[in-house]
Order: sequence, then structure tokens, then C-alpha cells
Amino acid sequence: MLIHCLKLLVSAAAFLVAAAASAQEPIKVGMVVEMSGPFADIGRQIMNGARAYVKAHGDVVAGRKVELIVKDTTGMAPEVAKRQAQELVTNDKVDFLAGFGLTPNALAVAPLATEAKKPMVIMNAATSIITTRSPYIARVSMTLPQVTAPLATWALNNGIKQVYTLVADYGPGIDAETQFKKTFTAGGGQIVGSVRTPPNNPEFSAFLQRIKDARPQALFIFLPQGEQPVAVMKGFAERELDKAGVKLIATGDVTEDSLIEAMGDAPLGVVTTHQYSVAHDSAQNRAFLKAYADIATGRPNFMAVGGWDGMAAIYEVIRRLDGKIDGDKAMEILKGLKIDSPRGPITIDPATRDVVQTIYVRRVERMKDGKLYNVEFDQVQNVKDPGK
Ligand code: PHB
Repeated sequence: MLIHCLKLLVSAAAFLVAAAASAQEPIKVGMVVEMSGPFADIGRQIMNGARAYVKAHGDVVAGRKVELIVKDTTGMAPEVAKRQAQELVTNDKVDFLAGFGLTPNALAVAPLATEAKKPMVIMNAATSIITTRSPYIARVSMTLPQVTAPLATWALNNGIKQVYTLVADYGPGIDAETQFKKTFTAGGGQIVGSVRTPPNNPEFSAFLQRIKDARPQALFIFLPQGEQPVAVMKGFAERELDKAGVKLIATGDVTEDSLIEAMGDAPLGVVTTHQYSVAHDSAQNRAFLKAYADIATGRPNFMAVGGWDGMAAIYEVIRRLDGKIDGDKAMEILKGLKIDSPRGPITIDPATRDVVQTIYVRRVERMKDGKLYNVEFDQVQNVKDPGK
């Protein structure tokens, strides 16, 4: 009889504990991402990276379930992003805002992060000013000035004296052009021409012909990852700029890992600077690639790493706050946070809430498996955003 009573008590207690855990709301991460339209690959990469992290590390942190709520901005659509973030805050009562592939979408949401005191983790958008738009923003990805300055230095050190620049005509492109010009001319280089193309430009032949006619030693490009780098590579090969003696140099967005196989032989030998390559040799990267392959097909790229590292940052905040999320306390933890990323170690600068990291100089090569890779051959460590 006594044993029976004890058993009943034990199972009642177990039931109460389980009920308490499930009655607790999950910690909600509102993901504002570009899942459809011409930039759909950006949202897909970020979400794959974030989901791979959750799958590999479990969806319970500090005893609380973590839930990702996804909103598709449908592309470069600041008004849509703003409305969706508002819904996430008001209706879903999210604890974090995260994602943000494109600069205009991130900028549109920044005032809301301040008003609602919600930590906003930028997983890609890379215009320098973004982190200055709200004290609740932290960025784990990169900035264009940060990846561009080392490329201008590499060009100067490798006998390139005259460069033409081609960038997408919006935040990150203007940042890239400005920084390239600044570093390159300060070191004695000359900019022989510059063109800014519409942010969603489908075809580059006319621009490339003009550049070929100007006969620069090199062409520097920044275009947002996706369809445009594929189009520019096609145009570069068709117009035979390489045969005219024009070297192509770019930020790693242009030769990023997931779409490079769609470019044929055109990117072979192209030198780029960036923070991540799938060919990066480290235990952390091998673990990331395995986790990514568990949930998605195809190659991940730097944006998937942004999604992965952004979740690593959020998990660490949840752990350190023991599951009790407060916006201000979360920001104090994000400031100075160190992450052992698949790209190498990164730190969130406590002064700017922007990422500090190694920038690699890479060359596109065909490796033993017959596929194209960005092979790292040099690096600059602890690069802060020089655009601030
Ligand atoms: C951006 O909009 O900030 C952006 C988009 C794609 C990139 C880099 C930056 O590859």
C-alpha cells in the first residue's frame, strides 16, 4: 500500500515537472529572411545554416525550447521586412530578431529593435553603417570595407597599378567602391573608371565592353551573392576580358561556394578576399559541413556560416542568461562575445557590436575532386570594419 502511494506521488511529481516545462513558452527567434524572389538563395543559405546549428546542438538551451519563426521578405523589400518584424514583436512576442540578408531590409528594422529592446542579430547584411542604427544590433557576418581593404592592399603588392571598379548601386556596393578607392589610391594605385549597376541588374555585357575598351590592368567587382555574380562571370568570359589582359579581382561574394560551379571555367584564377571558404581546413569547418549536409543538399556558403554563427551567439546568450531573456542583458553578453566559427575565431567588438575576424586572400582553383574552390593562400588577422 505504502509502495503504491509512493509510486503515485512520484508519477504525479514527474507529470508536474513535464507540465511546467511544456507550459513554458519557447524562446522565439524571429528570422527576417529573403526566401523567395531574385535573392531567394540568400534566405535559403541563412536558414540552412541556422537550422543546421539547431539540429547539431539540440533545440533545448538552459531548459528552454528554442523556436525559429521565419518571415519571407520576398526580396529587397524594406517595407515588408519592417511590417514582418513588427508582427514578430507584437504577435509572436519573439525574444530575438535575426536573419537579414540584405542591407535595406536590415536598415528598415533597426528602429524597431531599439523601440522594442530586442537583440537583432545580423547574419549577413554587410553595409558598414547598419550596426550604428541601433544599440540592439550585433553583426556576426562581415562588412564590405572589412573584406575590401585587404584586397586593395593585395593588388598594390602584386603589381596592379590601374583598376576599374564595378559595384552594385546600393549600400554594400558603395561601401566596397569607397574602401577600394581609398586603400588603393593611398598606396599609389589609380582608379581609371567606376560604374555602379542597378542592385538587381540581370545582364552585364554592355558594362563589360566599356571596361574592356578602357583596358585597365584589373577589374574590381562587388555584387550581392546570387544571380548577378553568375551573370557577370558569363559576360566576362564572353567578352574575353581576360584575353584583353584584364585581371578580375573581387570580394568573395562573387565567387561564393554555392554557385561557383554554375560559372564554368570563367572564375579560374580569380583572386578574392572574404571571411569563409568551404575549403577552409579546420575541425570546426568539418563539423559545420557535416551538420549542413545533414539538413540540406548542395554547398553552404558564407551566408550559411552567418546563420550558424548567429545561432551560436543566440545560444550563448540564452545559456548565460539561464533562459531568462532580457534585451539589455543580452546586448551586454553579445559585446565582446567570441565564437569558434567554421571560418576561424571571431569576436563581436564591444565598442561597435561589429564582427572582428580574419580576412583570407583566396584564388579559385579546381581541386582534386574536379570542383572549383576558393583556396586560401594568405590572410590578415583581426580585421575590424575600417568603414566606421
Ligand atoms: C547586403 O545587402 O548587405 C549584401 C547582400 C549580399 C552580399 C553582401 C551584402 O553578398
